[in-house]
This record gives sequence, structure tokens and C-alpha cells, in this order.
Amino acid sequence: MKLETKDLLTADEISSKEFLELIDFSIKLKEENKTVKGKSLLENKTLAMLFEKPSTRTRVSFETGMKQLGGHTTILSLDEMQHSRGESIEDTAKTLSRYVDAIMARVYEHSFIEKLAKHATVPVINGLSNSYHPCQTLADMMTIKEHKKKFKDLKIAWIGDGNNVCNSLIFGCSKTQTEIVIATPKGFEPDSEVVKKSSKYTSVDLTTDPESAVKDADIVMTDTFTSIHTSDPKRNEKFLPTFQVNDSLMEKAKNDAIFMHCLPAKREQEVTSSVIDGPQSV
Ligand code: NVA
Repeated sequence: MKLETKDLLTADEISSKEFLELIDFSIKLKEENKTVKGKSLLENKTLAMLFEKPSTRTRVSFETGMKQLGGHTTILSLDEMQHSRGESIEDTAKTLSRYVDAIMARVYEHSFIEKLAKHATVPVINGLSNSYHPCQTLADMMTIKEHKKKFKDLKIAWIGDGNNVCNSLIFGCSKTQTEIVIATPKGFEPDSEVVKKSSKYTSVDLTTDPESAVKDADIVMTDTFTSIHTSDPKRNEKFLPTFQVNDSLMEKAKNDAIFMHCLPAKREQEVTSSVIDGPQSV
């Protein structure tokens, strides 16, 4: 399927209709991939993957996905490119666009990927910036559809840091009309513009009380308190013990609630082993 947008930077660029179609298309593709060999959807297509930050899942999933669909990847570390010697983002974007069919980039500053997208003539996909993680949102919404078979009348409780993953997830909820409640300590709320914009399409509530957030929740989600771009060594103290997802918090969600974490996880910090390695964890 073809999207209207050239780039995927936040998850807000995709219309609600496209978002829902994309999830169903992905589920179908995943199913087919179990049985049909030799996919050619991306035959002769090359994806450049630019990394400024570490990656395990994003790198492996993009690389494997490209290969399973008949394409290939070229993996580039920004500190080994001419950009590290002062070549502009504009020239980097224009040059890469002559060689490859799409660019995925994992960067610190979101403005970097915006600039890359502005000057690249090929699609640019955000593989995580300090502000957004749209691919994680698509994957999370796909997981939710696989487990719950629907989006409407579902409630997500996000517990912990209102970070990049949370910002894009709020957009994902607005596209699918999924209710979301975000429980964070004061000062760790998601981007207020994202909340304001998304509230027009679905219920987005902020609270400082995790117990009220998980009440009647179908999905409980969290992420590390410390992201790659955050370095305050005292950060965890602001979250613990109140914002840890543990058995007692999970008990307050619906009986059939699922637990989700984008990983990497810090066990016994944002989530206990009993939850992340337990039966509700998907
Ligand atoms: N919030 C995390 C997500 C990692 C996939 C980070 O930015 O480090």
C-alpha cells in the first residue's frame, strides 16, 4: 500500500484511515510471510539506515524486513560519515537520495531528521529521535490489534516517563480512537502540543496517579525512566517506587489486561520481573 505522506517522522503524518489499513496490511504480511517464500514487494529497493544512537530491535527488524521483502540495506554510522567532518545535513540527504530508495535514521535531535526529510527526495523514516518513535507506535498498535482484535473501547494506561515512545503512542491512539491515560510524575508529562492535538480525536488524560490510570485498563505500557538522551543519575528517584509496574498495579487493571514494553527494559525499575516475564506480558 502507498501512503500519502513522503516521510514518517512522528506518526501524525498518517491519516486515521491509512493507519488502520497499514496495521491490517502488516498483520496480513506477517501471516503470509510464514507460508510464502521469495517476497518481491521491495525487490531492487535499498534502504539506508543511519545511526547516531545504539539500536538492537530497530536495526534488526528493518534489516530483516527489507530482506524478507526482497530488498537490501546499507547500514551507516553517522560518526563514520562525512557528516562527522562537517558535511551538511542538506548535502548528506541529497547525496543519499541519489543512491537509495529510502532512508531510516535514528538520531538525537528531532530537528536533525526534519532537516534530513526536507532535503531528501526519497522517504525518510524516523527510527527514534529524542521526541518521537513512530515505528514503535505502529508495531505496538499492531500487537494490540493482534491480541485484542479491535481498538475502539480499549483503554491504554501509560505509566512512567512521558517520553518519545509515549508522544508517538498518543498520536497512534488518536488515529485509532483508543483511549489513553498517562501517569507521570510532575515535570515528566508528554509533549503538551501532542496531547492537545490528539485530544480532538480521542480521550487523552494526564494524571500523577498510576492506580487511577490502570483502573479498567486493557493495556498497561511503560518504558525505561532513563532514555538514551537523558543522563540525570538521580532521575530514577523521581519515579520510584510510585511509577513501577508491579503485580499490585497490574491487579488493578482489567483481568485480561496485557502488559507491553518497547524494550530495552530495566527489570525491578520501571517494571518488575514478575510482570515483564509473567503471563500478561506480550
Ligand atoms: N525511550 C527509549 C526508547 C528506546 C527504544 C529511548 O529513547 O532510549
